[in-house]
Amino acid sequence: MSDMPNKTNDWFYPPEEIVKNAHVPDYEAVYARAQRDPLEFWAERAGELEWFEPWEKVLDDSNAPFYKWFVGGKTNIVHNALDRHIQTWRRNKLALIWEGEPGDRQSFSYYRLWQEVNRFANVLRSMGVKKGDRVTIYMGRIPELPIAMLASAKIGAIHSVVYGGFSEQALADRIEDAQSKVLITADGAWLRGKIVPLKETADEAVHRSPVVETMIVVKRTGQDVYMEPGRDFWYHDLVALPIASPTCETEVMDAEDPLFILYTSGTTGKPKGVLHTHGGYQVYTSTTLKWVFDIKDEDRWWCAADPGWITGHSYIVYAPLILGATSFMYEGAPTHPYPNRWWKMIEHYGITILYTAPTAIRGLMRFGDAWPNRHDLSSLRLLGSVGEPINPEAWRWYYTVIGKERCPIMDTWWQTETGGFMITPLPSVPLKPGSATRPFPGIEVDIVDDEGNPVSPGTDGTLVIKKPWPSMLRTVYGDPDRYVEQYWSKYKDKGYYLAGDSARKDEDGYIWIIGRIDDVIKVSGYRLGTAEIESGLVSHPAVAEAAVIGVPDELKGNIIYAYCILTSGFTPSEELNDELKQHVRHEVGPIAVPAKIEFVDSLPKTRSGKIMRRLLKARAMGLPEGDTSTLAD
Ligand code: PRX
Repeated sequence: MSDMPNKTNDWFYPPEEIVKNAHVPDYEAVYARAQRDPLEFWAERAGELEWFEPWEKVLDDSNAPFYKWFVGGKTNIVHNALDRHIQTWRRNKLALIWEGEPGDRQSFSYYRLWQEVNRFANVLRSMGVKKGDRVTIYMGRIPELPIAMLASAKIGAIHSVVYGGFSEQALADRIEDAQSKVLITADGAWLRGKIVPLKETADEAVHRSPVVETMIVVKRTGQDVYMEPGRDFWYHDLVALPIASPTCETEVMDAEDPLFILYTSGTTGKPKGVLHTHGGYQVYTSTTLKWVFDIKDEDRWWCAADPGWITGHSYIVYAPLILGATSFMYEGAPTHPYPNRWWKMIEHYGITILYTAPTAIRGLMRFGDAWPNRHDLSSLRLLGSVGEPINPEAWRWYYTVIGKERCPIMDTWWQTETGGFMITPLPSVPLKPGSATRPFPGIEVDIVDDEGNPVSPGTDGTLVIKKPWPSMLRTVYGDPDRYVEQYWSKYKDKGYYLAGDSARKDEDGYIWIIGRIDDVIKVSGYRLGTAEIESGLVSHPAVAEAAVIGVPDELKGNIIYAYCILTSGFTPSEELNDELKQHVRHEVGPIAVPAKIEFVDSLPKTRSGKIMRRLLKARAMGLPEGDTSTLAD
């Protein structure tokens, strides 16, 4: 849990069989090699993919921190993810196996997926979507979501996927910021046996951000929804048109052309649009997946994240397809209808690698060992964890009960901004529960003090990345100053990237992530900004001012506490409390709903008027208040 790094120092060694057969059996050697000449190392990795035209320069750092990778190279990530496989035996291999929450199933060979993507790409093109246009996608975990992403990328459009758990205002803000004229959504999504009314939310968001001219709606749940004539079209009608031919020319992109924008929470204000590009991103995501999860042709890979987050972008959609792997995707809740749903699917589909978040593991652990023990999980070879520090108890359960002490756990530390795994074991690296272990080859990280000097082993410090890497974010969409300010200003002289996490290194060089040092809260592994939740609260007429903090929680990692000053004329009550929770659910999304709302008369502020969330947190947790010398009164 974010504020409680564990102290265990037990070693877990990977089975010899796994090490011997791994793509990278010797981490140390490969790390040292990459360290000697990182650019040559990355050029070699890029050489494993196909390019329409080769790059002239691996890295251009002349305008740092606006780094460019594989400069002059011509490519399209969809060429590597789909087109090239169609020319090989892989055309008949399964690319995607999917199960819906109600139990319906679909599977896509590479050939079928390629055709579906082409059909939809032709639809988008015929609607006038061009290279560089932004397309917002707001859907549940159904095959049309990756198809829409790949179709956009194929024609050079920039996709902006908004997680289906966000609500009206969050979606409206993201549409507005990206200025998307096209929105792709569904009538609904299945979750815990109920329908999430995506279309209704989309309608309200478009009402608030009327830049959208066309809405394309996938029929998933089948209930009646409002369709606005001239604006809204059914997906199935469009892909049945003659224009939707199963072949489609792939747009030739520059390596540095944008691939997608993904909004994520930062320290202040509105979510920022993290921008990734075609060239470096494909190289880095495919290399990391291949080496960390040791993907082989016979594998069935299950990344249980949502495509609406970076984990899904990189490791459900792009990297597995580039590697020609078989991926599994499941629509719904892990416990629906019973807590054995995941284990049943692992057995049924013969999943070999499972990658999920600590919060999901803790959630399933709660139901006891009997549920997984009823299933044959012997197909599993490797396990993975992401999103927040994994506590040793959850690690051990995952290792013992799910992996039967045979499957090493790859605890991968990374971020929306990094595009791919940064600190992570490879299957050959001995593990310590709770540590993300070592940097990936080609990556240099350190733990430093406020001046940027390395702190000694065992001391808490700030996590920095010392050298650029191919899948780094290129900018904050439409706000280059914020990109420089947020990530590069703190250690300007040294040129270090500020990750926003605190961490420590132990005597063995193993890295232990502690948690965020900014106003970002990780709730069930989801990343939320205090500012987003606070502006959700103050958009209610009863709230004059609000402050939000994250408080450690057994299950979710953190939960949200909110402190509200009421507008005069309103009085605290149970009803108002409930109403405010409903309001946040509506405006921001269910994941942002505070566990507790407290009505207060004032908030602790610095003399310059900044809310001291640190103090609120100390009070909420019953901890010493620390330095209060900057407090206004
Ligand atoms: O605080 C770290 C935490 O998640 C943050 C990044 O969140 P997001 O951009 O949503 O990406 C999550 C999925 C890549 C980081 O700054 N985090 C992520 N992975 C880990 C982690 N904390 C500890 N251990 C991890 N393995």
